[in-house]
Amino acid sequence: MTVSQESVLMASDLPFELRMCPHLRPVREGSPVRRIRTPAGDEAWLVTGHAEVRDLLRDTRLGRSHPAPDARAQYARHPTYDQVTSDDHRAADDMHAGLRAVMKPYFTTRRMLELEPRVEAFVGERVERMIAAGPPADLRESLSAPLLRQVFTELLGVPAADRERCAELMRQAGAGDPAGFIGYLGELVARRDEAAADGMVAGLCAAGLPDEQVVQVSLLVQLAGYGATLKQIDYGVLLLAHNPEQRAAVLGGPERTTWAVEEILRLSGSLSLPRYAREDIEVGGVTIGADDLVLLDLTLGNFDEQAFEDPRRFDIERSPNRHLTFSHGAWTCLGAPLARLILRATFAGLFGELPGLTPATPLVDAGEPGAPLSGGLPERLLVTW
Ligand code: HEM
Repeated sequence: MTVSQESVLMASDLPFELRMCPHLRPVREGSPVRRIRTPAGDEAWLVTGHAEVRDLLRDTRLGRSHPAPDARAQYARHPTYDQVTSDDHRAADDMHAGLRAVMKPYFTTRRMLELEPRVEAFVGERVERMIAAGPPADLRESLSAPLLRQVFTELLGVPAADRERCAELMRQAGAGDPAGFIGYLGELVARRDEAAADGMVAGLCAAGLPDEQVVQVSLLVQLAGYGATLKQIDYGVLLLAHNPEQRAAVLGGPERTTWAVEEILRLSGSLSLPRYAREDIEVGGVTIGADDLVLLDLTLGNFDEQAFEDPRRFDIERSPNRHLTFSHGAWTCLGAPLARLILRATFAGLFGELPGLTPATPLVDAGEPGAPLSGGLPERLLVTW
């Protein structure tokens, strides 16, 4: 495919949200592994090279445990996102593998195939409502947030009578205040007989997990998946709205929609949690010392010229497209099949009906940036067509 100037991602006429932050450019262009100071004021290694990030994600000498947690360097002093799971490496790895094993059955191909037509129908209904009400519409309010609330309440098996309350608590959790949602999960675990039998809460209870852990796993899934998927929907809509040629290609069939989703994932990138070296590790020409804090930058890895030709170009036909947005190896996002399904259904359903969809206002005026974990995108995304 020939790619026009318009589809060059960082073109100066694109809104600033779609351009790479200028402060990141020198970081991207420097050494793939370097020493930095974190927002918490501690020292860390920042890894930005695609090959180095991938290698380290597969390396068992790196993990989420630290032998002296109180003395460890931190990325940010945040109780939820900057914690270590144990001071014992083996125990931390066992716990991680155990958690993945109990969550995995909820993301199987069979489950996704069952869910797909329901997600497509939900998107179709919401788009019809948007069309009936006429432009402009807040895409968050009209489509993406209700869709995610529907998918997550169903995944957890929230009883129909609780759905609205639970959805509101999820919204608060996504905005950085998980207390109400944690309380609700505890309540649901206590009333497990009322939860849908094929949902995660009932399933984890039936598998014999202690109540506290059922709450913890359900919370992890929601925190890990909800904001990240919202952000990817916003970002994909903006990218497609600003790139008419690529948007037309997406509508050329399901295979192209699938490629477009991968390219949107690559360009929007994502976060990886802090890790610690368990012994000295030679990588990218440096030695990371045992117990050092290591930050693997999945987003900058996706912009590495060694791995992607002309990485700033939005090209849905990019192949191969080994982006790091869902992490890699033993850390690969468990919800990736679900996120891919939601993104495919949303872009196909939305642009299939409204091929001329575009932001209604300059994005900078679209509202205050949302919760930090949603990537700083606005709370609202006003669109017109
Ligand atoms: C497009 C949206 C999403 C993105 C970009 C994303 C990204 C990620 C990344 C990068 C990790 C690994 C973090 C690390 O290596 O430290 C991760 C882990 C995880 N994600 Fe996602 N995720 C998305 C959607 C979802 C969804 C929809 C769910 C569930 C419904 C989910 C559930 C999880 C879980 C449970 C983990 C933990 C896996 C583990 O610790 O081994 N994610 N995700």
